[in-house]
Amino acid sequence: MKPSSLSEFLGPEAISQLRDPDLNLAKGLPASIYTDPDFFTFEKERLFPNVWVGIGFESDVPNVGDAVPVEVGGSPLILCRDNSSQIQVLHNVCRHRATVVLEAPACGLKTFKCPYHGWVYGLDGGLLATPFWDGTASAKRCPVDPASASLVPVRSAVWNHVVFVNLSGDAPSLDSYLAEMEEELGHFDLGSMEAVHSEAWFFNANWKLVMENWEVYHHVWVHQGVFDLMSDEVDFETGKPCTDMIASNNSLMLRPNDLRKESARPNPVDLPLMPWKPEIPRESKLSSIANAILPNVTASMGRVEFAPAVYIPIAPDKTLAKMSWFIPPGIKDDEKLRPEVDKILERWLGPDRSIAGRRGIRAQDHYCMELQQKARKSPVADDVRFSKTWEANVRYFQNWLVERLEASSPT
Ligand code: FES
Ligand SMILES: [Fe+2]
Repeated sequence: MKPSSLSEFLGPEAISQLRDPDLNLAKGLPASIYTDPDFFTFEKERLFPNVWVGIGFESDVPNVGDAVPVEVGGSPLILCRDNSSQIQVLHNVCRHRATVVLEAPACGLKTFKCPYHGWVYGLDGGLLATPFWDGTASAKRCPVDPASASLVPVRSAVWNHVVFVNLSGDAPSLDSYLAEMEEELGHFDLGSMEAVHSEAWFFNANWKLVMENWEVYHHVWVHQGVFDLMSDEVDFETGKPCTDMIASNNSLMLRPNDLRKESARPNPVDLPLMPWKPEIPRESKLSSIANAILPNVTASMGRVEFAPAVYIPIAPDKTLAKMSWFIPPGIKDDEKLRPEVDKILERWLGPDRSIAGRRGIRAQDHYCMELQQKARKSPVADDVRFSKTWEANVRYFQNWLVERLEASSPT
């Protein structure tokens, strides 16, 4: 019989080892949580519907009638922009006999039409037509009630261009879900920034490894050319890292802890710095530069760019990454500045702007995650440990996952 609760999957020992008060003695969760298809299904059913999950960006659907199919916890959804230019998220399930209505991204739609029997829905999901339902073209003799047969809306909200959904409809508000992140980043005027590029790609690793990458211990080994010196990461005398690793509620944040260094950090490109709300003096505040919103969103901050990403679990060993880059307003169409914008993108994606080239920050991270995933097939991969100096965030995330899955298990 398949396990039906977290303790059946893990056993009580794994959870108590994870929670050892001495982080250096704690043990990470077993490899099966990254490889077992039943655990993957368990997460889809018990975690993703109950929290806020990122599905994409407002810029994925820039104009009225633009729509993209997306998936959360195995549920097909439509992200679209309706006639009032508002973001809408709908269940992508026809109310006649449950067929996927929108199969591929589309632009400038007036309606959604089910490919099976031609039922038509408005951009807000409202049922508009059920052709020949009663044998007549107008289907008026025996009409279907739109109130009970429109595409079902999904609770959604936007935070700084990122579109989130909560399938269960009963999570606390997105504002409260992200309170710590907003406190940390609220001085940036991220909403005014403009989308300049987006990428989507698959990589062969479990989605959780993205959240577990929220540490700086790997920087000098993985991101050569960007982070080269361990002396930039830690004070050798005291062993104190130069980054504060902040884990709180649903957020993981990495904040350089030296204001002087932050001020001296050069702007690597000849573009205006990220817009800052005028009431707070610039450089008066340290800012986290790498942020993760559990379970599946990252929000990275350059000096100029805001680069959020959402990660959609596809299979235990396969994840879809969707990343967008936003730059200060008013510069994206300036041809003279284009080479500077390209430099930003190359930093993330590599000189060939290709994930496969593995020379950008994100491609390098995902390459290591693929190595981690491969290792998790081994019988010796359960013995995983954390550095007290660097990896409190990794343990925090695993415990966050445990708490949410424990809360969802039947008693
Ligand atoms: S299933 Fe959509 S119209 Fe029949
Ligand atoms: Fe990294």
